[in-house]
Amino acid sequence: MIELIPVQASEFARTVDPLFYALTIISFFATVGIFLAVVFMAAKYRYKPGEDRPSHALESPLLEITWTVIPAIVFLGFFAWGAVVYHDYLDTPEDALQVDVVAKQWMWKLQHESGRREVNELHMPVNTVLELTLTSQDVLHDFYVPAFRKKVDVLPGRFSKLWLEATKTGTFHLFCAEYCGTEHSYMIGTVTVMTEEAYAEWARGDVSAKPPLEVGRVLFQDYGCAACHGDRNAEAGPALGGLFGSAIELPDGVTIEADDEYLRAAVLNPALHVAKGYTPLMPSYQGQMGESDLMNIITYIKSLPPQPDSNATEPLETERAPNQ
Ligand code: CUA
Repeated sequence: MIELIPVQASEFARTVDPLFYALTIISFFATVGIFLAVVFMAAKYRYKPGEDRPSHALESPLLEITWTVIPAIVFLGFFAWGAVVYHDYLDTPEDALQVDVVAKQWMWKLQHESGRREVNELHMPVNTVLELTLTSQDVLHDFYVPAFRKKVDVLPGRFSKLWLEATKTGTFHLFCAEYCGTEHSYMIGTVTVMTEEAYAEWARGDVSAKPPLEVGRVLFQDYGCAACHGDRNAEAGPALGGLFGSAIELPDGVTIEADDEYLRAAVLNPALHVAKGYTPLMPSYQGQMGESDLMNIITYIKSLPPQPDSNATEPLETERAPNQ
């Protein structure tokens, strides 16, 4: 049987498909309606010798308002509907299982939280939210799972995020959906959705695999990061505990959020956003650190708890002061 549309294997597929069908149906009727009108009027008002065909237009404000207002309401309705769906597309639920994805010509390399790696395959538990952090080693690729109705461009030099939640076990297609060179069409794979128990067992399957967090901890020492970004605030560089998600104040008074993209830039291009009070001493790791190492180090930095001796205790002292 010919499959007109891929199976619905995610919650998001159920969200986006009604919008797709509604747009298709309304486009179909509008197109057919316009074509029928064109044919009908071409026949009815066609040129005939001796026939009076004055060129003056009929003026009817009511008609003009009607054909302006009704389509405007329909289009704005679709805009609002689309905005709600798109927000859902981007808004990753909390506590997602993390998977790192590195694309290169012409394969997908993935690593799970447990440390298990795979190529051109994604194993995932059913009814569980996965958050993918994706980047490319070379050119632009695009991670696409039609059964989940989800795709995202994967760019060199930055991170993309995509969340997935499967509602069905089974295997589904994984495609690269951006022309990326000679073997683009071979850059395909499978997504295997398993029960949670089967996934847990699978994830532990490679005993030699080290979790990204552990690898990142070692790399943090090996690349010499710990020399300046140790446990305490050193003069050279700030301690990194609690950094992820916090607001960083820049010398010009602007604050930016320390998200994945910020951490990436801070390693590869440290002079870009030097935190207020620090001098740009740090060397760039551009070209020295592979994408996989960088992702592991960032995973480690994100795991660091806030410093116990930070100035977070100060407001408590001042609160107590008036009671004395
Ligand atoms: Cu990678 Cu197309």
